[in-house]
Amino acid sequence: MSSHTDATPTLGVGILGAGPVTQAIHLPSLARLGDILTVRHIMDVDAAVAESVAARVGAAHSTSIDALLGDPAVQIVAICSPHQFHAEQVIAACRAGKKAVLCEKPFAMNAEEAARISAVSEETGVPIIVGAMHTFDPGWLAAMENRDDLTGTAHTIRSSIVLPPNARFEDFATEIITRPAGSAPDYSDPEVIKGALRGGIMGLAIHDLPLIRRFTPDFKDIEVLEARHVRPFGYVISLRTPTRTIELRAAMNNTWKPEWSFEAFSDDAALRIDFTPSYVQAGSAVATFSRGSGTTVHGPFDHNGYEGEWRELAALATGAKQPPAAQTLIDDLTFALDIADATAASLDAGQAAREAAQPSVPEGAHA
Ligand SMILES: NC(=O)c1ccc[n+]([C@@H]2O[C@H](COP(=O)([O-])OP(=O)(O)OC[C@H]3O[C@@H](n4cnc5c(N)ncnc54)[C@H](O)[C@@H]3O)[C@@H](O)[C@H]2O)c1
Repeated sequence: MSSHTDATPTLGVGILGAGPVTQAIHLPSLARLGDILTVRHIMDVDAAVAESVAARVGAAHSTSIDALLGDPAVQIVAICSPHQFHAEQVIAACRAGKKAVLCEKPFAMNAEEAARISAVSEETGVPIIVGAMHTFDPGWLAAMENRDDLTGTAHTIRSSIVLPPNARFEDFATEIITRPAGSAPDYSDPEVIKGALRGGIMGLAIHDLPLIRRFTPDFKDIEVLEARHVRPFGYVISLRTPTRTIELRAAMNNTWKPEWSFEAFSDDAALRIDFTPSYVQAGSAVATFSRGSGTTVHGPFDHNGYEGEWRELAALATGAKQPPAAQTLIDDLTFALDIADATAASLDAGQAAREAAQPSVPEGAHA
């Protein structure tokens, strides 16, 4: 990705955090968009990672956020660090007067952080988008343009994910530098299960929750019917609102055939969107509407949500497009947090009910 010499200069990109998502997702996407975007600066707290990843694209490198934000060559900032750093880094990028910010999902871990981010974005006028890539997939966007009345009439919405573990995709895509070693979790500990479910919702389901929310007008009134962890990583969660049934399913396994689908059903119509798996760079989702004997198919298009995010950022940075409403980002995050909290509360309630149902041991009795 060398710099451009045409009359129209490309927009300079700086990336905070150069781990797997930067290496396997964003750099390959940016490599296809060299006519509009150039990676100019890579920052990572691990100096060796910053240097070697920057060398792949001929960019400057550093270990400090101030160095990247102070680099005048950087106009668009992508935040790809671990989630606990997102809120502060998004705010710092806005305050540095950059032209647009991409924050990997989730962009905040609680409603207070989300409100702070949106206030700073409004005050500084710097547009922010969140890397929930399905919302930028042309297959999804075509479904929304031609959605008929399904967002209003759907009663059942389903997100189903069967994927190999991330590491397999990352290794298919590129040679990842410094992968942290994993350790075996203790599944007998209810806190481990709660943590795994929260991680599944905030890390994986969150890609489809903004889509589900568009089909759930009463999204603020959510109840958990069932929530189970699936080993080694996955979940089966059933939710309901006064007017909708929502099913979230995921299994990350050694699988021959990955699948990632979103479905919405009403009394007389159905929408199914088949997304490409995470890390896959080619082609978009395909959306299929069915009503009676009629079927309409949208896609596949020539790029998917990863590239869509960067095209959107370039359009925002040049003013060609208006930024999304901050309230949309807040509502999407609140929806995810509400589901994560309600799921944890339902597990606590289930645990309390099981303990109450245990026969009490008479005093003085020994096993
Ligand atoms: N959109 C997707 O499909 C997708 C896929 C995977 C991960 N993600 C998201 O991307 C983000 C990064 O995930 P990852 O898989 O690259 O793994 P990661 O979180 O393990 O790697 C992040 C990198 O950030 C560096 N880092 C740590 N602290 C930092 C700091 N304070 N400032 C800057 N850099 C710091 C680490 O050294 C590491 O190189 C997460 O938010 C994750 O949810 C998105």
